[in-house]
Amino acid sequence: MTTFGTPLSPHATRVMLLGSGELGKEVLIALQRLGVETIAVDRYDNAPGQQVAHRAHTIAMSDPAQLKALIEQEKPDWVVPEIEAIATPALAELEAAGTVRVVPTARAARLTMDREGIRRLAAETLGLATSPYKFCDSFEELQAAIDGENGKPGVGYPCVVKPVMSSSGKGQSKIDGPADVRKAWEVAMAGGRVSHGRVIVEGFIDFDYEITLLTVRARAADGSVQTHFCDAIGHVQVSGDYVESWQPHPMHPAALEKAQAIAKAVTDDLGRGLDGQPAGLGLFGVELFVKGEQVWFSEVSPRPHDTGMVTMVTQWQNEFELHARAILGLPVDTALKTPGASAVVYGGVDAQGIVFDGVDEALRVPGTEIRLFGKPESFVKRRMGVLLARDADVEQARVNAKRAAALVRPRTAA
Ligand SMILES: Nc1ncnc2c1ncn2[C@@H]1O[C@H](COP(=O)(O)OP(=O)(O)O)[C@@H](O)[C@H]1O
Ligand SMILES: [Mg+2]
Repeated sequence: MTTFGTPLSPHATRVMLLGSGELGKEVLIALQRLGVETIAVDRYDNAPGQQVAHRAHTIAMSDPAQLKALIEQEKPDWVVPEIEAIATPALAELEAAGTVRVVPTARAARLTMDREGIRRLAAETLGLATSPYKFCDSFEELQAAIDGENGKPGVGYPCVVKPVMSSSGKGQSKIDGPADVRKAWEVAMAGGRVSHGRVIVEGFIDFDYEITLLTVRARAADGSVQTHFCDAIGHVQVSGDYVESWQPHPMHPAALEKAQAIAKAVTDDLGRGLDGQPAGLGLFGVELFVKGEQVWFSEVSPRPHDTGMVTMVTQWQNEFELHARAILGLPVDTALKTPGASAVVYGGVDAQGIVFDGVDEALRVPGTEIRLFGKPESFVKRRMGVLLARDADVEQARVNAKRAAALVRPRTAA
């Protein structure tokens, strides 16, 4: 049985979000609706989620001392990481001491913090199909990894280079031939989150399409953990950043079966409770490449996924509600409500406090909704909002979402 307290009282059920961007904001709203006391943490003031939580804090979440001090001060029941750049050893320490529960587990947060932990787990420990890959610490190592050495074949051309610590395509580039290698190395060095100069180089997978398979580990009535799958989400990435997504994405039954088996294997492992710790619960975004009946694991977020924002119109319980419910030990329902699509609104300008023209025109496109995230500062390529469209025909929904997104015109306020 799950018992809930009253927020702002001594018996409140308290959840702290580490990272409070557009995804964290929706998790916080879902928690608020369940009467949970919410604490939003980010690295800058007035982050989207900080605008909807009971309390807000601004700290460097990668600093273990600051992170520990804040958790000890706020005493949340759960800590929910929304971003990757967090001092995960500090979380592991607090979890082991029984001070707080980390969602899904501190180990999952650590393993998915950079590309190396999760790739080695998936490919080397779990034996899942992935692109061929190698980790490199210098330009020379990168070149050798592509060409092969000591009689061993390399990943070859084309291939993709990414900093081990990066997201949303930052520092990532495709290499088509020898002339591109130097540039790709430099782009990776400039774009990584921390400048320790390590990259992954992956053989390029010529997939037919890529999907996000939202996978939920939730408690069943008998107390066991059950795995639930949402319908596949198709998406388009430009320079490694998501620009549109839709659900459902039709799949060959054999490919769907493989995709679910891969997602189950990865989330079972990441959700495992180690050393007497309880099993990890929550929603995961499993990214997969598909060609015919072949499926490759790409990466996984142990939390809601940006391409999953489409579920705010397509599912009875969107990915944020599913995450909130699963964490709190509540039952979940991953059923689709209607086909639909999402399209991103970028800032288009570098400025503080921008304004958006055309929201009314956008919402006259049939079946659309908008989320403006409320980010205090815009960058040309910063995601500032998203348009959502529902339609019985998923292709029509994609057209409508993109048309509506194009009608929203961000500009400087002056
Ligand atoms: N090995 C690969 N082969 C083909 N496309 C790739 C490969 N790796 C990445 N991509 C493309 O780049 C996108 C972003 O890469 P990903 O590894 O998911 O980085 P991020 O962590 O920034 O999301 C993918 O969704 C896919 O479209
Ligand atoms: Mg990705």
